[in-house]
Amino acid sequence: MAPVFPAHASRLETELMHILHVVGARPNFMKVAPVHRVLASRGISQSVVHTGQHYDAVMSASVFEELGLPEPDVNLGVGSGSHAQQTAQVMVAFEDHLSKSRPDLLLVYGDVNSTMAATITAVKLGIAVGHVEAGLRSGDRSMPEEINRLITDRLAGLLFTPSKDGNDNLLSEGTDPQAIKFVGNVMIDTLERLLPAADGERELRHFDLVKGAGPAPFVLVTLHRPSNVDDPATLTRLFAALETIAAKIPVVFPVHPRTRARMARFGIPHQRTILSEPLTYLPFLGLQRHAAVVVTDSGGIQEETTYLGIPCLTMRPNTERPVTVTVGTNQVLGDDTDRLLAEVLAVLDGRGKKGSIPELWDGHAAERIADVLGAIA
Ligand code: UD1
Repeated sequence: MAPVFPAHASRLETELMHILHVVGARPNFMKVAPVHRVLASRGISQSVVHTGQHYDAVMSASVFEELGLPEPDVNLGVGSGSHAQQTAQVMVAFEDHLSKSRPDLLLVYGDVNSTMAATITAVKLGIAVGHVEAGLRSGDRSMPEEINRLITDRLAGLLFTPSKDGNDNLLSEGTDPQAIKFVGNVMIDTLERLLPAADGERELRHFDLVKGAGPAPFVLVTLHRPSNVDDPATLTRLFAALETIAAKIPVVFPVHPRTRARMARFGIPHQRTILSEPLTYLPFLGLQRHAAVVVTDSGGIQEETTYLGIPCLTMRPNTERPVTVTVGTNQVLGDDTDRLLAEVLAVLDGRGKKGSIPELWDGHAAERIADVLGAIA
């Protein structure tokens, strides 16, 4: 079991406490931003390492700017590659950095390859790790993120959970209860803070979605999971369903680079669906808040739609975020495109799923994380 407290805890009693955040891919950035802000406001020394897993401006630098994050102190520049290549490259580059910088605590976020790679590296150097968004489980080991979650949670000594199912999962795996801290959802901290800056007006006009004084009903889509986009038959079937929906109501689909590459490779036909480049955080949030329904395979979007009260149709066989289904507006449809069509029609008929906001998704999760860290220090 990794130490709950940093090995050299005595240093934390001095003013030398230094926290290092590691991020790599787009969904990490919305999670680190509120923690970084709160720690800064409490005068804690901190720095940010970006692994470079995501590198296009629209996937990285522009999102940092919108979130008000300072430029990363270090960018390891690992880029894309197979899972083993990406993981190994983060480990090699990060080990070098960590050996020199020796922070008191490393904070990692979410479930991407950079999260797991940084955790393994730090723990082997005897540096304590805290995992923000711990305990989520889909039970589906064919998803790379599930492997990343399992390993990160096994090794990290502080486990900050966004929902109580996270606590239950960790306890059932034999985790020390003292290591588990139910703090709520940091993604929602960011969403609450930035919602006023994301009115969506410009995006609605850009996609021709204005009707009278308000938005026209439209469907917002994001699909990027390998299970949906890497197989030509699956991607073709999903697009056929989107085209059918687009005959009735506008369908807007900002396309992730992975999906764009597969569409080109497979020659996926599409005529009515409105495709765009990936959107940065604020324009996407601006569109999302006005959507009639969202179709996705993203984890974060299942959470954001729940918070916004917008029906969400998740094209995956499972979710690691069950609270979005039991409490929120999410429905998990697997690859059932007939049901997708039926559920979109239900929404247009005014029969979309209603929900409420899960416990501690209240904009203060990062403060609770800082409180826990303060109690350790
Ligand atoms: C990664 C995460 C996934 C997360 C997603 C959000 C893992 C295992 N997966 O998936 O959990 O939901 O980020 O976006 O960590 N590419 C670019 N520009 C970029 C980044 C990627 O063009 O800035 C292209 C490259 O062709 C690359 C492909 O996208 O090969 C996939 O990128 P990668 O980071 O490996 O995984 P994602 O699919 O983005």
